[in-house]
Parts: sequence; C-alpha cells; structure tokens
Amino acid sequence: MNKYQLPTNSKMLSKEFVYGVATASFQIEGASQQRLPCIWDTFCATEGKIADNSNGDIACDHFNRWQDDIELIDSLGVDAYRLSISWPRVMHQDGSANQDGLNFYVNILDGLKAKGIKAYVTLYHWDLPQHLEDNGGWLNRETAYKFRDYVDLVTKAFGDRVHSYATLNEPFCSAFLGYEVGVHAPGKVGKEYGRKAAHHLLLAHGLGMQVLQTNSPNTLNGIVLNFTPCYPRSEKLEDTKAADYADQYINQWYIKPLFHGTYPEILQELPLAHQPDIHEGDFDIIAQPLDFLGINFYTRLTYSAPTQAGEFYFEHEHMTPKTDIGWEIYPAALTGLLTSLNERYELPPIYITENGAAMADEIEAGEVHDLDRLNYYQLHLNAVNKAIEQGVDIHGYFAWSLMDNFEWAEGYLKRFGIVYVDYKTQQRTIKRSGLAYKALINERNTQPQQ
Ligand code: FCB
Repeated sequence: MNKYQLPTNSKMLSKEFVYGVATASFQIEGASQQRLPCIWDTFCATEGKIADNSNGDIACDHFNRWQDDIELIDSLGVDAYRLSISWPRVMHQDGSANQDGLNFYVNILDGLKAKGIKAYVTLYHWDLPQHLEDNGGWLNRETAYKFRDYVDLVTKAFGDRVHSYATLNEPFCSAFLGYEVGVHAPGKVGKEYGRKAAHHLLLAHGLGMQVLQTNSPNTLNGIVLNFTPCYPRSEKLEDTKAADYADQYINQWYIKPLFHGTYPEILQELPLAHQPDIHEGDFDIIAQPLDFLGINFYTRLTYSAPTQAGEFYFEHEHMTPKTDIGWEIYPAALTGLLTSLNERYELPPIYITENGAAMADEIEAGEVHDLDRLNYYQLHLNAVNKAIEQGVDIHGYFAWSLMDNFEWAEGYLKRFGIVYVDYKTQQRTIKRSGLAYKALINERNTQPQQ
C-alpha cells in the first residue's frame, strides 16, 4: 500500500478537511541556552528519570533548522502545522518579552504563511519555566494568572499570523503524570497533588481563553485533551464500575468542567485532602465557549475492581498488539470515544490533534519501510471516518509527529515521526508512512469535490 485508503464518499476527502503534522517545542527545538530553564531541563538532569539519560539541549536542532523543516512540512503537502510555543523562550523571568524568542516564532509563522500552511499554535505543551515551579508550579494558583499574562504577551506579538490557538496540551499529563505519579516533570508524587494541579491548569485554560477572546477573536480558540478510553476487563459489575471510575478520574475530569462546569461525581468520593481548592466563580472561568476541541488519541486501557482499600480501580498492563512504546493498538476505541463524547457533550468542531505510533524503525539505503506505523495510521484514519459517518463533526487530523523527537521520559529511544531523524547528522528522511500521508492528501487535492 502506497497511500492511505478512505471510502470515495468520505468527508475526509473533501478539501475542507484539514490534514496536518504536529510537534512540540521542548521535543524538537534544542537551543536550551537561548531560553530560561524549564521543568523538563531539571527533570532530565535528575538521575534515573529519562530512559537514555538524554535531554532537550539539542533535540532535532529545529531552532537552527526551522527553515529546512518548513520546506519539509511543505513537501508533505499538509494543510496545517501544529507547533507549540516555549514559554521560557519568549518571556524573561520578570515577565517582560524576550524579543529574540518571539522573533524565532514570528519568523516560523511568517514562513508557514508564505507557504499557505495554517499554524495551529499550542500555548503550553509542558515546558513550564523553572522559576514558576520553584514557586509551586501548577500547585500554586498564581501560576494560572502567570499563564494568562504569557498568553497576553504572545497573542499581541503574533498578531494575525495564527490560524488556531490551543491553550493547553493534555492537562491530564501535566497534572497526573507530573504531580501525582511523578513520571513526567516536575516529578512530584502524591495523590494530594494531582487534582490540585489539574484544577489550576483548567483555571489557566479558562483565563487564557478570556485573553484569546479579547486579543485574538478571529482565530479558532480551544484546548487539546488526551483520552485513553477505559474498558472493563470483564462484564462483571465490579469491573464495569472500576472502568467507569477510571474514566472519570483520567478522562472526564478534564472535559466535564469545560462543558458542564463541574467535576465528575468521583470528586465527592475523594478524601478532602486530595480534592482541589475550588474558589467561587472558578467554573465560570473554566467553562468558556470553545471554537474547537482538540482530541489526542493513542490507545485504550482495561480495568478491574480494585485490589487495595482506598483505590477505585485496578489498571491492567496493555493488551496486545502493541506499538514499540508498549501501547495497545485498538482503533475501535477511537471511534467509540468520539461517538460517546458526542453523546455526552455539546461539542464544538473536533480536531484529532494527535494520533500516531512509536515503532522500532530502521533506516536502510536511505529508506524507512515502517509498514507497521503505516498500518496503524490506516486503521485510525478509518476509525475517524467511521465516527464522522456516525455524526461526529470532525474537521481535521494531525499526525504525531512530523519527525522523530525527544519522547519525554523515553528520551530518544521511541520514534513517533513520519519523518526519520538521524540524531548524529540531523538528517531527515520521510518514512513510508509519511509518503502515504502525502499521497492521501495529494489524492484529496485532485479528486473532484462533492
Ligand atoms: C502525547 C504528547 C506528545 C507525544 C505523544 C506521543 O501525550 O502530547 O508530546 O509525546 O504523546
């Protein structure tokens, strides 16, 4: 197969459907000396946190190669590029603008505009300035207001160069992985931290949306959430109940406040010390109208009844088949997720802002035959198409990722790119999965529109 196949009448073959590729600042930029330190620099410098003891100092050297990378993006034929802004690159510690940092992004945005590629900008993809973490980070309510100031500065500097702004990427990961289980920066561990951090992140989102509505009313403004659908391991009532608890804790916790202005019921069952500090009026700030909702999907998980007192569920290891990062390949969960969210909430237009797979790629004679990743994409594009057929209003799809990059706690060991990166030479090579993406978009462009 040389290109992804979709039914000829698929809405995903209409020119309105947006195809893009995604990256994030810390994962690709490098040039860590030209910005303030962030929590991921500190985390990487901590013994035992990153699988290959690596860091983001150089990464894909995108800071120096951005022009070539725009050519690369353009060569794929995509409509859009989702990138994130490094807060510690654009703001000094006193809150004033770092003009060099802003210029770096302004140049990228101008470069994209010149090629007719729409910029989908994520304002926060996990690289919190370290000085804010030293003040409590996302456990400190003040950080939400610092985020508001940062959004104000960035949106004023970027003017009309941006097509879409997302406030946050995956607050679940920032809060749960970063402050509850500690496998991501800043590496805090404690059930009493996760919900508090999550609440301040959601507050930051709401405050950021208010700024966007004022400073940038013509962009598509929203948020990117990740979802890992929770399945019961058996039909037993206690397993179904466990899976529902997990879903509330992992998934619904982040979406329900946006649309219903409240947390899921599990909140009432948490010990007081684990509950967030909710101030009067917080939900009014959080539940701002959204122009779009970004959904990131990779896998699902299965659950049974808890084995320990005080727990709500037992989470099983991933089932097979798995990608190289150990996540189950289960595309039906993507269709199920989209249709179930559509039933539960009054959703704005949806974008799949991330989807993709880590595979153990090998480069031979300048080619990467990643048929496993190609197959993953084919299955998931079909899953998106099925959700559209069932009435979900999906406007676009972004492959994660444009290129192999720093995969957080896994360092450079896991490759998610549709473009291969040789970290010694920084050479980029489009993989078979990337060529198939290009061919699909090309077919869409040449097909008579309905
Ligand atoms: C998501 C992150 C993204 C990338 C993928 C594999 O959770 O948003 O940066 O690491 O996972």
